[in-house]
Amino acid sequence: MATFIIEHLDCKLWKWCLIEYKHISKIVGKGKLLFTNIKNKQLGKYGKRNSKSISELNLKNACILDPDAKKTLSPEEAKKFKYFIFGGILGDYPPKKRTKKELTKKLNFTARNIGKKQFSTDNAVAVVKEILKGKKLKDLKFKEKIEIQLGKYDSVILPYRYLLIKNKPLISKELVEYLKRRKEF
Ligand SMILES: C[S@@+](CC[C@H](N)C(=O)[O-])C[C@H]1O[C@@H](n2cnc3c(N)ncnc32)[C@H](O)[C@@H]1O
Repeated sequence: MATFIIEHLDCKLWKWCLIEYKHISKIVGKGKLLFTNIKNKQLGKYGKRNSKSISELNLKNACILDPDAKKTLSPEEAKKFKYFIFGGILGDYPPKKRTKKELTKKLNFTARNIGKKQFSTDNAVAVVKEILKGKKLKDLKFKEKIEIQLGKYDSVILPYRYLLIKNKPLISKELVEYLKRRKEF
């Protein structure tokens, strides 16, 4: 059974990021999730936690998910990995290739993409979970950008790629509520 690892790479745990991490816990289950490179105790409610970086854990048979990797993860190959490592990086637009700089180039693991477009971390995890179930990337449906209605006249565009589940983009209700509240400040 594979473990999903989120190597936290931002300078602090932003509220947005915490909401995504909680969502990841719902998607894969607390027992299959490990947060690394972070001390924050409240994450213990959502998965295992290690304040050490992945580079200090001496893991074997791991795959880094990197939009800039040359090859795409296939279901056959996915079954062979024990760990999937994701960058705990909030989306930036245009992408700054932080996964490549801060993970792929520093660690000696296989790196694979799930397409070249940038997913939010929770969506990237959900896509890998589908690939592990045997789905190919081309069997999945996506939406390229989503617009969240914040109020009657206001909206925000999230310029990332979202997995469609029953034709709806995968986004946590808590994040939508947070974006609406944030607008009020
Ligand atoms: C919001 S993304 C940040 C990507 C970052 N802007 C970059 O350019 O590397 C957070 C994480 O989701 C995963 N991810 C997102 N899109 C991906 C893709 N198309 N292929 C592989 N991994 C992806 C990566 O592990 C990445 O570090």
